[in-house]
Amino acid sequence: MRKKMVAGNWKMHGNLVENKQLLDAIVTGLNGLYKVNFFVCVPYPYLPSVQSILQNTNIAWGAQNLSQFERGAYTGEISASMLNDFECRYVIVGHSERRSLFGEDSQIVAEKYQAAQRAGITPILCVGESLEQREAGTTEQVIEEQLATVIKLAGVESLAKAIVAYEPVWAIGTGRTASPEQAQDVHSFIREGIAKQNVNIAKSLTILYGGSVKASNASALFDMSDIDGGLIGGASLVANDFVAICRALHQ
Ligand code: 13P
Repeated sequence: MRKKMVAGNWKMHGNLVENKQLLDAIVTGLNGLYKVNFFVCVPYPYLPSVQSILQNTNIAWGAQNLSQFERGAYTGEISASMLNDFECRYVIVGHSERRSLFGEDSQIVAEKYQAAQRAGITPILCVGESLEQREAGTTEQVIEEQLATVIKLAGVESLAKAIVAYEPVWAIGTGRTASPEQAQDVHSFIREGIAKQNVNIAKSLTILYGGSVKASNASALFDMSDIDGGLIGGASLVANDFVAICRALHQ
């Protein structure tokens, strides 16, 4: 059985007061639900307060990025062991915003993935094509390259301790969701590609969909056989919406 998950990616939003209100409402809304793993990936400075609010609840927490390096003269960077100090169980790597706005290529993403795993933190590896790439018919090639770079560095077995998130760039923050069928096609492409290298890893790999998931479209996406949950941006900042999405998967 694959683990089902819903994760919130807060991106660069929030403050101490708003975060507390948001999390208190989410904790209440998800109280007693244990069939699905829930977690939020928050901005670094809020990790200590988020940790103290979510400790002893059914919601875990993590970060949105990390350094590929273990320690040293890397001004402004955050290492995996620093995330461990705040008991982060998860970290997002290779989000399309990191790739496109901060120049992270697949090799850097693969190194970050490995750095997370070395520290015992589960990486959520994001892959996805741009609109131009989709229209040019190269979606599968793009995703294959993004995955292959990680597999080459860390090995296919490493996926036993990772999560993959398919996030079509054209669906992120645009209100334009991939249809359940479009998303399912790519999810099954990912799973089949991995199955060629290791069937058991492919079967047990959790693959999340991200990109304009809302309370209104979550169930239809989650009904697809290869979609194991969601990585939620905007809607994770609104307690009622996030809770509704989480409950849609839990059913
Ligand atoms: P939205 O849900 O706001 O489209 O963002 C998706 C995302 O980028 C999650 O990582």
